[in-house]
Amino acid sequence: DKGEHRHFMAKEIHEQPTVIGHTVAAYVDAARQRVVSPAEALDFNSIDRLTLVACGTAYYACHVAKYWFEAIARLPVEIDIASEFRYREPPLSERDAAIFVSQSGETADTLAALRYAAGKVKSVLAVVNVAESSIARAADIVLPIRAGAEIGVASTKAFTCQLVTLATTAILAGRQRGAIDAAEEARLCDLLAEAPRRIAEALTLEDGVAALAQEIARARDVLYLGRGAMYPLALEGALKLKELSYIHAEGYASGEMKHGPIALIDDAVPVVVLAPTDPVFEKTVSNMQEVMARGGKVALITDANGAALAGADAWRVVVLPRIDRFIAPIVYAAPAQLLAYHAALAKGTDVDQPRNLAKSVTVE
Ligand code: M6R
Repeated sequence: DKGEHRHFMAKEIHEQPTVIGHTVAAYVDAARQRVVSPAEALDFNSIDRLTLVACGTAYYACHVAKYWFEAIARLPVEIDIASEFRYREPPLSERDAAIFVSQSGETADTLAALRYAAGKVKSVLAVVNVAESSIARAADIVLPIRAGAEIGVASTKAFTCQLVTLATTAILAGRQRGAIDAAEEARLCDLLAEAPRRIAEALTLEDGVAALAQEIARARDVLYLGRGAMYPLALEGALKLKELSYIHAEGYASGEMKHGPIALIDDAVPVVVLAPTDPVFEKTVSNMQEVMARGGKVALITDANGAALAGADAWRVVVLPRIDRFIAPIVYAAPAQLLAYHAALAKGTDVDQPRNLAKSVTVE
């Protein structure tokens, strides 16, 4: 049932404040400002490395989580797409743990990657939306994301709920490894508790994002840029735009532009820059200026502070609430999703069932 919405995707985008609230409630003891998780069955102090594996959007959730685990838990992290991981015979030992992330829990490559790791690593964890899925059944520890059924082929609420689940796991690992103290755990838990309200605020900007999408829909190619944990968001934004509107889009780490992709820039290629004001904001601004100096049209997605500092020369600016950088990847998912959704509406494509795609990829 789509309720008041035209598409399942729109419904699922707008459900995010509610379902993220469910995920936070499942993993954060609000009274004690502390993470509670089935992942406590693994001692993160007994491992030297964590490997995160998935496909598509779930892989980009892993990519964001790498930044969190490394910063919060000081734990070395490797990430890989399942179809590569399973065939490259990566060396694994009892000093490793591995997390497999899948909305459906049925993705063939992710399941095969999990089976490769099982028995070699200390513990196999599954972050899934479908708790009775094949991937959940094959794991030692199951972390349900509690997003509720996701019908739209494009993953939206599952992505943000995967992020919340992985964020709580990173906090837990940080506590166990002594990398964060109780006060920092409380601060991070409070920020996650704030995420539903923040993403709800971001979703109120839909009209502005839809106006930008009308213009993006005229482009043949679109670039997305981000730095730090916003880099995987740039990749996710580009994937969403491709799969829904069939517009060619690529995501890059902002700092990589001048190593090649900047050659693509002209006034026909919009560049979407995802840049909350964080410690790397100024670096991103200088990359943005390099793009504008070559005639590129920058759509800057930032907060009021960032808009004041760097918005003047941008082609378009979307102003999100000012948030702590920890939850920025969760909140900035909303404009990326809305941009792709409205670009698809403008192009008249089949939003819930894009061509050539299946919701669950159960073949290799
Ligand atoms: O069910 P899974 O999370 O394992 O699916 C992984 C990908 O197939 C999926 O995220 C895909 O990339 C989406 N269509 C992206 O929106």
